[in-house]
Amino acid sequence: MELLKKIESKQAKLGVIGLGYVGLPLAVEFARAGFSVVGYDVDQKKVAALMAGRSYIPDVHSDHLAEVVKNGTFIATTDPKRLGEADIIDICVPTPLRKTKDPDMTYVVQAVEATAAVLRKGQLIILESTTYPGTTIEVVQPTLAAKGFKPGVDFYLAFSPERVDPGNPNYQTKNIPKVVGGINEDSTRAAVAFYSQVMDTVVPVSSPSVAEMVKLLENTFRAVNIGLVNELAQMCHRMNLDVWEVIDAAKTKPFGFMPFYPGPGLGGHCIPIDPHYLSWKARQYNFEARFIDLAGNVNAGMPEFVVQLIIDALNSQRKSLNGARVHVIGVAYKRDVNDLRESPALDVLELLATRGATVSYTDPYVPQFKHAHLDLKSVDEKSMHDGVDCGVIITDHKVFDYTAMVNNFPLLVDTRNALKGVTRKHVFRL
Ligand SMILES: NC(=O)c1ccc[n+]([C@@H]2O[C@H](COP(=O)([O-])OP(=O)(O)OC[C@H]3O[C@@H](n4cnc5c(N)ncnc54)[C@H](O)[C@@H]3O)[C@@H](O)[C@H]2O)c1
Repeated sequence: MELLKKIESKQAKLGVIGLGYVGLPLAVEFARAGFSVVGYDVDQKKVAALMAGRSYIPDVHSDHLAEVVKNGTFIATTDPKRLGEADIIDICVPTPLRKTKDPDMTYVVQAVEATAAVLRKGQLIILESTTYPGTTIEVVQPTLAAKGFKPGVDFYLAFSPERVDPGNPNYQTKNIPKVVGGINEDSTRAAVAFYSQVMDTVVPVSSPSVAEMVKLLENTFRAVNIGLVNELAQMCHRMNLDVWEVIDAAKTKPFGFMPFYPGPGLGGHCIPIDPHYLSWKARQYNFEARFIDLAGNVNAGMPEFVVQLIIDALNSQRKSLNGARVHVIGVAYKRDVNDLRESPALDVLELLATRGATVSYTDPYVPQFKHAHLDLKSVDEKSMHDGVDCGVIITDHKVFDYTAMVNNFPLLVDTRNALKGVTRKHVFRL
């Protein structure tokens, strides 16, 4: 296979569609490994920032980006025709949900159409966007085959789920094992050879649909276990038990237990969304994904539970939520990231505001944001407690001064166990 030789000699050119949390690290990692990479994105502002050597993804160092832009191994463009130069095209576009919680395949379809427009013999096309089992074969392959090329022979096609964990200092693109499933043996072989150039471990599976299901199993596993522990947290609250202490002790069991932690609700682009892709697909087989739906219900109820904790905290000082000033500490969906997508902080803020509270927030990673009726700017950490009735820790960024919070807020609700070990009357824990 001609493509294999090109890959092994690093002569193969890579095209990446979608330069976000997934596509950009991938593009830069391959460029740093010596491949010529063309990144295509519809967002002109992102492309301009990249060509100026400015990264907007915390896990991609601007120094690394600037280096590959300068030496010409990476270029970003809004011109889809440039993808025609690529031997391998990797699709990393968003896969959100519609309001009805059905998969929104618009971006994937657009990216596949852009790929079909430049498709030529011998290319390898890989889909990395998280999606339901069957997408590669049912959605991607027919559009490409309509060009008159024979799938698996004239071009190679595979699915490889992305497992990136933004903000994780120990696991990044290179050392996270990569699962790959091609539509035939040659497609898998080409995709394995490609990822092996950069990734330490590549795990081939028998089909794209298996690879698609692997990703959904991983994320559903998290959603369900978080749902279980969120339910346990509510149960412990009723029983006046400390759920964090229970989990800490349970995790001393060296086998058969894996700790998951409760929190204010699910956030991010993956865990709250991906399981719905699976339950949607299951419904086509007349199959009800009960665990997914149940976990979804429990997790979606957490912001409301947090509001109840705030009401209880205020009540302990004979105050009502209506008219209170409540300050949210951390709004990103998880620790040490700047990503606000699906963040439970948004739900908590909305719920508080609709019940008559005056809301504000502090997050060094999110200077300002607009969402529904909210239009807020982050308050400086030093003055965030001024005139506030209750602080609520939603995201436990490492940079926060938790001791100062305990000393300065008249009431504190901690949804992340950031104040572990603190037993003060004005501190309330999930
Ligand atoms: N963020 C994560 O932690 C993560 C982890 C694993 C998997 N995923 C999956 O990877 C996929 C991408 O997620 P992301 O977080 O990188 O999204 P993102 O929103 O950060 O990036 C997607 C990029 O694609 C661009 N884009 C949209 N439509 C396009 C088109 N038609 N042509 C070219 N560019 C287009 C957008 O402008 C954006 O820059 C999703 O399916 C997601 O579920 C994400």
